[in-house]
Amino acid sequence: MVLRDLTPKPEDLEPIERVSRDEIANLQAERLMWTLRHAYENVPFYRRAFDEHGVRPDDLRGPADLARFPFTTKQDLRENYPFGMFAVPREQVVRIHASSGTTGKPTVVGYTRRDIDTWADLVARSIRASGGRPGMKVHVAYGYGLFTGGLGAHYGAERLGCTVIPMSGGMTERQVQLIVDFEPEIIMVTPSYMLTIVDEMERQGIDPAGTSLQVGIFGAEPWTDDMRAEIERRTQMHAVDIYGLSEVIGPGVANECVETKDGLHIWEDHFYPEVVDPVTGEVLPDGERGELVFTSLTKEALPIIRYRTRDLTRLLPGTARPGFRRMEKVTGRSDDMMIIRGVNVFPTQIEELILHTPALAPHFQCVLTRPDRLDELEVLVESRAGLSEQERIAVSADLAGRVKATIGVTVAVTVVPPDSVERSVGKMRRIVDNRTLR
Ligand code: DLL
Repeated sequence: MVLRDLTPKPEDLEPIERVSRDEIANLQAERLMWTLRHAYENVPFYRRAFDEHGVRPDDLRGPADLARFPFTTKQDLRENYPFGMFAVPREQVVRIHASSGTTGKPTVVGYTRRDIDTWADLVARSIRASGGRPGMKVHVAYGYGLFTGGLGAHYGAERLGCTVIPMSGGMTERQVQLIVDFEPEIIMVTPSYMLTIVDEMERQGIDPAGTSLQVGIFGAEPWTDDMRAEIERRTQMHAVDIYGLSEVIGPGVANECVETKDGLHIWEDHFYPEVVDPVTGEVLPDGERGELVFTSLTKEALPIIRYRTRDLTRLLPGTARPGFRRMEKVTGRSDDMMIIRGVNVFPTQIEELILHTPALAPHFQCVLTRPDRLDELEVLVESRAGLSEQERIAVSADLAGRVKATIGVTVAVTVVPPDSVERSVGKMRRIVDNRTLR
């Protein structure tokens, strides 16, 4: 499969994208100092947390000293609901976003005019890294509203000089119609919803490989390289990963480069990453897997210090943008980890095995139950069209066997007919936890 070469020309990059690692590191040291002071002086929560930890912003001599500062968690944001984490007078906050979460109050984040500007620049940079150019049409199917995906993508695409089609999520038939009629080169959407759109194209008799789309910029949920291969094969477009989270800024914290697709370059002129041991909180050296932690470097309204993302990954040296480190594709969240008879299992591991089974479609859910004090996992997965009952049974047994052989756990596999697994128009719910019901 040969996809169109969309590598940006060096002269199309911003000057900062071409600087050396040393220059980025110097900039980070300077900006870290600013951000710690800004947080300490303007947010009572940070003042209290630093004081309790016995640290002052001036204790930071270099980035390594950041490890002496306390972490910030989602719980901290919830406890300061709604506006307690803001470091500027509320009148200077020009936009609010919020992430719903599954329990409790939403997490509220705010942006000054300059923060919105920075964010648009970083999403524009991300779209360019993905192969986007001024003048292209961008179909945005991330949800618009309090969720940061839609508006984040929208302002970035405008900033790059693209024509934005603000479709939002849902109305799958309409999505297909507008893709066919408006001929966008780029689509920004969750990878799971992209699959739903592709299925809908096939249902309507439209060849997904024959549309105008050249690049899909997929994020907001974990997805694997096998999923990339599946989407690229079926659509003949580049599938590129975009990462971000509301608390740090939204989409555009890190992005893959279309020419390498080897993990996501973190835009380190605005965010300082660390990877820590999820249990002890100890900072791990680059290359080791752990939990990603971010400190914002330029954000005015909501400076965030050592935010525990719960996302699991590792830091690697830059490739296509040597000044910036990469993060490996996020394979899961620490709170997505299922422990089945002592073995840690992530939905992405199941995804990989499913994608290697031609008779199965990549629509699946992991259903957890606790029938007899021990957790049990049922994998509910769709077959491709036209499988007989007998074939379904054989495929189930085969997948269960491979889960046992490669991950080491016993699971029940139920292969269900096409279109029977829940679809989402945004982030897909991979884990259905029925344990509390018993
Ligand atoms: O999902 C921001 C976003 C929107 C990113 C659109 C990319 C595209 P939140 O709703 O706050 O923000 O959720 C953040 O989503 O901590 C990860 O667990 C997960 N996530 C986001 N991007 C990726 C990705 C947006 N590329 C949470 N790979 C994060 C894996 C991702 N997980």
